[in-house]
Amino acid sequence: MRILLATRNPHKAREIREILQFPQLDVLTIPEFPSPLPEVVEDGHTFEENAIKKALTLALASHLWTLADDSGIEVEALGGEPGVASAHYAGEHGNDAANNALLLQKLGPNSNRRARFRCILALSSPHGRCQYVEGQCSGMIAPTPRGQNGFGYDPLFIPDGHTRTFGEMSAGEKNALSHRFRALQAARTKWAALFAQPNPSDWPTGR
Ligand code: IMP
Repeated sequence: MRILLATRNPHKAREIREILQFPQLDVLTIPEFPSPLPEVVEDGHTFEENAIKKALTLALASHLWTLADDSGIEVEALGGEPGVASAHYAGEHGNDAANNALLLQKLGPNSNRRARFRCILALSSPHGRCQYVEGQCSGMIAPTPRGQNGFGYDPLFIPDGHTRTFGEMSAGEKNALSHRFRALQAARTKWAALFAQPNPSDWPTGR
């Protein structure tokens, strides 16, 4: 079965490929698709809205099954910020250093440093019918950024049960704990029957 991965972010594409590894799945990213695909504006108020919008728009445009993720970090003491604004919290899209600095500045000396990464994965059939699953990873915000690995808020995030940030972990270590890994595991369980089919035209009917 062929699936379009609705991302241009090479870090995410690598993580998803490393984790998915279904032998039957042929995973294609947007730059690998042979013709131009529409740019999807992520203007939803929730991760679910954004993931579904991306999956559905690109599935209808590509005529392929399309898997889209929307993810980000929610900090408890900031009322869930940055949430859907994670990628552009400090203004410029994808400026990780500025986003991390703003988060630390807003949190200040607050003793509640609880946070969670959330990942919604939406899968749309070529006809635009969507389902989604979720994965979460809870932890704490470190006092200062630590580590060179990963991307985004990885240098600030210490997952529960650990002392190092995601930025200090290898890709393999992070992948085994991450919100994306948990969402992909949920996807694997929920959509196993579908993924086993060579060329399904739509979601299985019944039940
Ligand atoms: P998206 O590309 O709209 O899903 O934006 C997600 C944003 O959330 C990214 O740009 C990062 O800032 C942050 N984010 C999502 N997943 C991760 C992760 O695994 N590590 C660090 N930051 C992440």
